[in-house]
Amino acid sequence: MRIRKQGTLERAYLVGWARSRRAGIPTTGYDPEESLEELHELATSAGAQVVGSTLQFAPEPDPATLVGRGKAHEIRVSARAAHAQVIIFDHDLTPTQLRNLEEALNSKVIDRTQLILDIFAGRARSREGQLQVELAQLTYLLPRLSGHGTLLSRLGGGIGTRGPGEQQLEFDRRRIRARIQRLAQGIERVRSERSLHRDRRRENQLFTVALVGYTNAGKSTLFNALTRAHVSTSDRLFVTLDPTVRVVQLPSHRRVLLSDTVGFIRKLPPHLVAAFRATLEELEGASLLLQVTDGFHPQHREQETAVEDLLETLGIVETPRLLVWNKIDLLDGAARARLPQGPRTVAVSALTGEGFPVLLQKIDEMLEADPIVEAEFEFSAGDGERLALLYRVGNVLSARYEDDRVTVRARLAKSLRERLQPSGTLHADLVVHG
Ligand code: GTP
Repeated sequence: MRIRKQGTLERAYLVGWARSRRAGIPTTGYDPEESLEELHELATSAGAQVVGSTLQFAPEPDPATLVGRGKAHEIRVSARAAHAQVIIFDHDLTPTQLRNLEEALNSKVIDRTQLILDIFAGRARSREGQLQVELAQLTYLLPRLSGHGTLLSRLGGGIGTRGPGEQQLEFDRRRIRARIQRLAQGIERVRSERSLHRDRRRENQLFTVALVGYTNAGKSTLFNALTRAHVSTSDRLFVTLDPTVRVVQLPSHRRVLLSDTVGFIRKLPPHLVAAFRATLEELEGASLLLQVTDGFHPQHREQETAVEDLLETLGIVETPRLLVWNKIDLLDGAARARLPQGPRTVAVSALTGEGFPVLLQKIDEMLEADPIVEAEFEFSAGDGERLALLYRVGNVLSARYEDDRVTVRARLAKSLRERLQPSGTLHADLVVHG
């Protein structure tokens, strides 16, 4: 469902909708103007050229068209005058609204969710991520198929443009359902291969360091710059399946796997969290996150907060983080001095390589500060919470139950061993890396 057209940018008209602000009642959530601005960025990032926009305030959404028939007519006139080829709504549309709007506007219409899925589709780098995103796209599309015919033309990948007709529609639905089933099976296969790879890495004690950050922060540029020199044959063993994982050698000479991930965005619709998480599979096993922020962006603080919020939503709070301020080649001395400083902070330019030695040194130090250790814990059987945590974050090697005690041997980060210690009694431990 790419909205990018071969060779040219598709012309997009944006429509925002928000409840009217009434005096004395504070608005909740996002400022609609700000949200529309972000939609603009998202559309550009999906390969569209924004040619106009409108924001409507109304007391209630119109169930048939969201904006109401009168406003729809206005949008149709403005969008046509701007030669728009697609109209993008900054609001999720019900299947009925989508159908009605396509008719009323006589144009291709997509909503925020479809736009974000389109961006994920372009950015998902791992095989599993790609399959998951296609699955999310088709699942979202299925109830939105109509006899109108325009939606189908967007599918691509084997399903061509077809005219209306109930029979045709049923045929399309069946094909999509079959594709959904095949995708689910494909995901299962890729997953088991991936876990095999992960086991192999674990056996070899290779840490994964994952890049995370707001879209456009410069993660891929940094990833390519840091990993350019290191693709040896033996390393391929760990990374063959996944072009987004490569090996980097640190100043201490140990090697780590660096993993690139999809860009984060603000206001991610809750139903997209699963598809998003799937593109971030590597984060779960990561020992360190490099949280990359575009230091030149005027809203870099907000972007950093958005990334932190999303990491929390995804349940990734324990992993140590190194804050990487990128694009310092664009900053003058005063602007550089204003960037936050600290032991877990580093400023770089992915483009010029400035700051790389410090960055690599800090990665090394932060891994050293949290080496993987092997430890044995004894819990009371009722201490389910800590036991579950140990299973979630550690690699449990053995568990022995006796009366109401359980003895668990596991490999886990030193910091977590310390956290688990107060209630679990630590028997013995042995540093195996670091
Ligand atoms: P997503 O895939 O959207 O998550 O983006 P990303 O974080 O991977 O960003 P990417 O590496 O694609 O970089 C985005 C833009 O920023 C590109 O045009 C890069 O050339 C530019 N860029 C990246 N790093 C730097 C830098 O250090 N300095 C400057 N001046 N530009 C940079």
